Amino acid sequence: MPMQALNERVTTALEQFKRDGVYKRLNHLEGPQGPRARMEGRGEIIILSSNNYLGLSEEPEVIAEGKAALDRFGAGTASVRFICGTFTIHREVEAALARLVGTAASLTFASCWNANEAVPATLLTEQDLVLSDQLNHASIIDGIRLAKAITKCQSGVFEHKNLADLDAKLAAAKDRQVKLVITDGVFSMEGAIADLPGLLEVCRKHAAVLMVDDSHSTGVLGPTGRGTAEHYGLLGEVDIITSTLGKALGGAAGGFVAASEAICDYLIQRSRPQLFSNALPCTVAGSALASVHFLESHPELVARLRDNARYFRRRLAELGFQPLAGETPIIPVIIGETAAAMQMSDLLLDEGVFVTGFGYPVVPQGTARVRCQISAAHTREDLDQALAAFATVGRRLKLI
Ligand SMILES: Cc1ncc(COP(=O)(O)O)c(C=O)c1O
Repeated sequence: MPMQALNERVTTALEQFKRDGVYKRLNHLEGPQGPRARMEGRGEIIILSSNNYLGLSEEPEVIAEGKAALDRFGAGTASVRFICGTFTIHREVEAALARLVGTAASLTFASCWNANEAVPATLLTEQDLVLSDQLNHASIIDGIRLAKAITKCQSGVFEHKNLADLDAKLAAAKDRQVKLVITDGVFSMEGAIADLPGLLEVCRKHAAVLMVDDSHSTGVLGPTGRGTAEHYGLLGEVDIITSTLGKALGGAAGGFVAASEAICDYLIQRSRPQLFSNALPCTVAGSALASVHFLESHPELVARLRDNARYFRRRLAELGFQPLAGETPIIPVIIGETAAAMQMSDLLLDEGVFVTGFGYPVVPQGTARVRCQISAAHTREDLDQALAAFATVGRRLKLI
């Protein structure tokens, strides 16, 4: 019985995960995901583990616009975009997203994972090359694997944020027609910001196209939250931006590619996640549109996010932890072994603070970490209570 053999194989693997202390248990929230939430079996906890950077998933205007779109357009799109799945709200949200990130056009996908899979596999050919930062998100890595399988393009990896390595790899690829360089804007496991000015300079020198995944930057970086380009005063300079609607922009789901009109149109014509998967639900488009409007009229949220992150990072260091240096709301504390990071996460949850532990294969062996994510919605009381929990657990584990 083939299914029995497969079940046995995965069951053995699951048991091994448990013995190794790397088994992930899903925690169920019983209500909305604010800075504090109710977790089944735990009561009220502080969430320090969410991409809801601006607290917009709970914002009444964002919820109301999602409901209004649900009422106006119905529960689902019931089709892919080119068949029957395109609604006027898709056009509206795509115009708003393009305006926000500073490109001529944008195109939504059901997730940023899909957007990252769509770009290289659709745009590249056998004559081309794609180069990826070593620490890029899994969706970019898999997008490139897919592109290689489909298009037979060449691919390579450059050392994390190493412009000299990128320069050398581009110099060695003179025969390639299109050279696509892909980087995260903010690296999700480190909180580091890509060196956009440097990347643009190297890309221009070699006539390469630059694609930036701004999933952790949209709504976060730049004085008004327009992303990595705004952070560096380079709005309008990045060739292709991908980002998610599942983090700062309401937190629901969905992603987008922002680029020239021609690139977005070509993706409508040819990208497989557009052609063969249902469109973004209208309720999600409604909430995302309201999130963009809210962000545009509340730049103080972005400033509050930055203040909160700065405060938490400084106070963690004062307690004796060594969070990775940086200026984003992603604040990782490296623990070492995966099981140790998971244990720290469990102990923090016992203290009423939800912080996820990440280990191999999400991060390299020996660099397992707990990753704190700060929101503009956290009050100082939330952050101080979380810091007190870190102090208790840190002392118990002899980390401080
Ligand atoms: C850098 C980056 N890109 C893409 C994604 C995928 O986004 P989505 O949840 O919209 O598929 C994530 C989500 O974790 C991410 O961190």
